[in-house]
Amino acid sequence: MPSNKVPDDINASEITPKEVYLNRREFMAASAMAAASAAIPSLSEAGPHGGTPLKTAKRVDYAASEATTNYENAAGYNNFYEFSTNKEDVAVLSKGLRTRPWTVTIEGLINKPKAYDIDELIKLFPLEERIYRLRCVEGWSMVIPWVGFPLEALIRRSEPKTGAKFVEFTTLLDPAQMPGQRREVLHWPYVEGLRLDEAINPLTILSVGMYGEVLPNQNGAPLRLVVPWKYGFKYIKSIVKIRFVEQMPVTSWMKAGPLEYGFYANVNPEVDHPRWSQAKERRIGEFLKRKTLMFNGYAEQVAALYAGMDLRRFF
Ligand code: MTE
Repeated sequence: MPSNKVPDDINASEITPKEVYLNRREFMAASAMAAASAAIPSLSEAGPHGGTPLKTAKRVDYAASEATTNYENAAGYNNFYEFSTNKEDVAVLSKGLRTRPWTVTIEGLINKPKAYDIDELIKLFPLEERIYRLRCVEGWSMVIPWVGFPLEALIRRSEPKTGAKFVEFTTLLDPAQMPGQRREVLHWPYVEGLRLDEAINPLTILSVGMYGEVLPNQNGAPLRLVVPWKYGFKYIKSIVKIRFVEQMPVTSWMKAGPLEYGFYANVNPEVDHPRWSQAKERRIGEFLKRKTLMFNGYAEQVAALYAGMDLRRFF
């Protein structure tokens, strides 16, 4: 992650009002009526941000009502090295990524391995909206309304065997579609991992959407991991494989910089990255820095997972 540049400040009036996406059903109904009365082709497939709207069974705000990041920043300032190391170029370069058909293979130490078609997988679990803080190790943060389902639901369905201790996730490998993979910026394909107990923590979700719509390609369509108490690099995008293993996976970032990126990557204001202090963060859209919270503010839900561990050593 060579650059820690953040976009220009935006003022509050530019932040997308929550009503814009929360009332999307009304918006859709109104625009469908307007389209019908004006006898122009209906735009009923697209939500306010241009993506397909997703229905959610429930919505929980895990960001203490902190302002949601403006959609343009969440979808326009991205780390996705398969396309570019330039955050502003990812959205354009990933536009053509084919996310259908898409297969997600669940394998390894489980009783029920299976290659799921992405649409089949999504239909298995009720979708929820989860508003979470996202803290990047580079020092910026956002608040994102994700749409997804608990990873735990898929894990239970797959029936892990007793030897399964970790879960390894892999991104698509396709240099023809992903120009960044033609250079050895990272060890491809992108690999991430969680301990099994982290993976089944109720906060951990597989995301298929954000801001009420299907995930834009630049944000990891069609399926990405969201682990809100960890740094953003754990949120692996465009997943094609989930494998249950006995040994701790070696992730792409651990290979790239073993002294900089550990397996755990828990947000911790007391343990600095060699190049960036982790004590404070800059919320995209805000001027003053704010203090970074232990486990990104989710200590109550996850601190017990690390009881007795030296978090300086297991960073
Ligand atoms: N997943 C893949 N496959 N490739 C990547 O380069 N970047 C990570 C993570 N997931 C990355 C990835 C990093 S460093 C961050 S901070 C987040 O995605 C950024 O997610 P966002 O673009 O949705 O904000």
